Amino acid sequence: MTNTATLIIDGQSYEYPILVGSEGECGIDIRELRNQTGCITLDPGYGNTGSCTSAITFIDGDQGILRYRGIPIEQFDNGPNFIEVAWLLIFGRLPSQVEYRSFANDLNAHANLDEGMKHHFEGFPRTAPPMAILSAMINALSCFHPEDQDCEDDETFRMAAARLISKIRTIAAYAYRHSQGLPYIYPDHKLRYVPNFLHMLFSQPYNHFECDEVMRDALNLLLILHADHEQNCSTSTVRMVGSSQANLFASCAAGVCALWGPLHGGANVEVLHMLDDIHKNNVKPEEYVQRAKSGQARLMGFGHRVYKNFDPRAKMLGAAAERLLTSLGRQDPLLDIARKLEEIALQDPYFIERKLYPNVDFYSGIILRALGIPTNMFTVIFAIGRLPGWIAHWREQQQLMANKIARPRQIYTGNVKTDYTPMANRNSTGA
Ligand code: ACO
Repeated sequence: MTNTATLIIDGQSYEYPILVGSEGECGIDIRELRNQTGCITLDPGYGNTGSCTSAITFIDGDQGILRYRGIPIEQFDNGPNFIEVAWLLIFGRLPSQVEYRSFANDLNAHANLDEGMKHHFEGFPRTAPPMAILSAMINALSCFHPEDQDCEDDETFRMAAARLISKIRTIAAYAYRHSQGLPYIYPDHKLRYVPNFLHMLFSQPYNHFECDEVMRDALNLLLILHADHEQNCSTSTVRMVGSSQANLFASCAAGVCALWGPLHGGANVEVLHMLDDIHKNNVKPEEYVQRAKSGQARLMGFGHRVYKNFDPRAKMLGAAAERLLTSLGRQDPLLDIARKLEEIALQDPYFIERKLYPNVDFYSGIILRALGIPTNMFTVIFAIGRLPGWIAHWREQQQLMANKIARPRQIYTGNVKTDYTPMANRNSTGA
């Protein structure tokens, strides 16, 4: 391939450099396009637009490849814990033992919420969506930790990152306890990240929740598999908000809101509702697939903007769901329905032609349900998992794009210059 692209407008040629990434991905660098030609590019949904260069995560959607800092996602099965992967994503390499221990100690030190923050939970109705509480309370960290506002130096950033990763799980657990009218359970420093979270969710003041290894490993893997996915909707939101030099907490609070939608992280809730509806109403999986093809329904947890092949996370989570249920000695009819939907869809020309495969959300809900986590907390768990990715991207954006605010353009299609009409002269439609 040549290293320039030629664009011809009105007979005039313009040359633009082609950048090649470390895995051979190509991008035409059009930074000078508007200056030189007066034109911009138009790409609603950004399917063909690179917003940045990034060294964090590599995806090859055609081949179903996902790597964090170069390491294939499959190598995290039965391997490291979530905190080690978080460190890898944020700081660019695997931590030494000393670095890992020191980060884990920081997480322990910052697990508690300021007592003042606890009062905020009381103001939310019991029925408040946990994602709304999560976003609000992450934003509120800016009020309680002003020392983290300006984290340009490495040490302040490290502390802000540790604080956020630790506190998000406490906030998530308290949001759940509030919705149930249960007393808040303080973090236990003797427990590691995942068991500590389950303890805050499920312990009672008179009864300590015992987390067995199978549950710990399943949630650990689920969090790892959600930890980053390059420039998805929520991560791009975090980068965009961060580009205005908004602090880490404010930027990640915005990421939570972006993740909430049913076409993004909220899909894990929709998948469970779909499977539950099919089960309760005795709908044949074949019939549901038919509805999805005719546009009456959507096969939630299927399809992806980037993957046009198997999402490797879906494969791993499907297997993990089977392992977990077997170890717990349980059966879940929703898993059988999911397997059947997958089998039918993967043989159907509609899904084959459109390259629609199960995505990360297709099996994650079955694992969370087996862990006893209620459906309205599913996207919150996704957010806990995705947080290291958001933090890594916020930092990368701060370092690479210093002082460059993200500000796309548009093609204006509204009125041309129009004069103001005084109210007395307007008709009933305002014209
Ligand atoms: N069920 C049925 N048809 C689908 C589905 C689906 N799940 N997904 C895509 N299609 C169809 C579309 O109707 C469209 O058909 P057409 O060409 O006849 O109009 C075609 O496939 C292309 O779909 P788009 O929506 O244009 O693809 P896009 O890349 O914009 O959207 C998305 C990707 C949003 C993930 C989509 O596949 C979807 O809505 N999936 C269900 C929701 C979901 O699972 N979201 C989670 C994604 S992973 C994540 O964010 C963590």
